[in-house]
Amino acid sequence: MNHIIFYFTGTGNSLWVARKIGEELERLSPTCTVKIIPITRLQAGTTGKVELSTSPNASTTVGLVFPVHAWGVPSIILRSLDLLREGGYYYALAVNAGQVANTLVQLSREMEKRGLTLSAGFSIRMPSNYLPFGEAPKEETQRTCFREAEGKLKQVARVILDRLNLPVEKGPFWQNLILSGLHRMSAQHFPSMDKRFLVQESCTSCGVCERICPVENIRLENGRPVWMHHCEQCYACIQWCPVEAIQYGKGTMGKKRYHHPEITLQDMERARETSKN
Ligand SMILES: Cc1cc2nc3c(=O)[nH]c(=O)nc-3n(C[C@H](O)[C@H](O)[C@H](O)COP(=O)(O)O)c2cc1C
Ligand code: SF4
Ligand code: SF4
Repeated sequence: MNHIIFYFTGTGNSLWVARKIGEELERLSPTCTVKIIPITRLQAGTTGKVELSTSPNASTTVGLVFPVHAWGVPSIILRSLDLLREGGYYYALAVNAGQVANTLVQLSREMEKRGLTLSAGFSIRMPSNYLPFGEAPKEETQRTCFREAEGKLKQVARVILDRLNLPVEKGPFWQNLILSGLHRMSAQHFPSMDKRFLVQESCTSCGVCERICPVENIRLENGRPVWMHHCEQCYACIQWCPVEAIQYGKGTMGKKRYHHPEITLQDMERARETSKN
């Protein structure tokens, strides 16, 4: 059996989840092959390799692993759906900080419009990277979160191998009712919300922000980042800046940054490189 796992990530949580589910699939089914591919590569175009990996046959499973953004699916994932092919067993892992709301229902509907079936969808809780609401959780809290996520992913892997059709997971009624409406209102403003990013004097012109932005929305001009208003609001730039020189309005000053401890800057840069191959 072939397993293709597409991921999108800002601070590494979704890449870690993609790796963990891949490892578990390999452990349970040692003869299978697992490919973990940044979704930006699918966006990048129609190279032979991408075409191959997006034309699943009946025995292929295709996973979509992404962070929940404002109670919904990131727009880069929605745009990618047009490039996916029918066939195969599709599942999704909506990586979130406790408010998955109707995200997986939204994804399922959007896939249906394109002739694709989402056979299962799971909410995976990880630490929050939404800096305006709070800084990086304590290490112990993070570890508990990772342990619980890992436990759930073990169960999810069995569902994938058995190719079960299950109702997608969703949040409690109040989340679905109120927050999903907020998603519809806020998501349209995401591309230009990068106007609120500020860069401070402490910027060393290292270029990390430019190199890791998954959608090439940052250009260094005179050694300083300039945001180009096609932002995904993934928070990679603000969270990975080595000297914390990027702020989002006034509310992020002095807050401890977060990215997944097992995901490196090189992992983030590599994801960008492969998007250009
Ligand atoms: C702009 C933005 C919006 C977010 N909205 C939500 C949300 O609606 N619900 C939620 O539970 N987490 C939300 N989060 C938190 C992320 O979904 C969560 O931290 C996720 O694990 C990040 O994954 P990543 O490291 O792969 O980017 C949001 C984060 C950002 C940056
Ligand atoms: S990552 Fe930070 S220090 Fe490096 S160029 Fe960007 S803003 Fe400046
Ligand atoms: S500009 Fe920053 S927040 Fe926007 S997509 Fe790029 S890395 Fe993510």
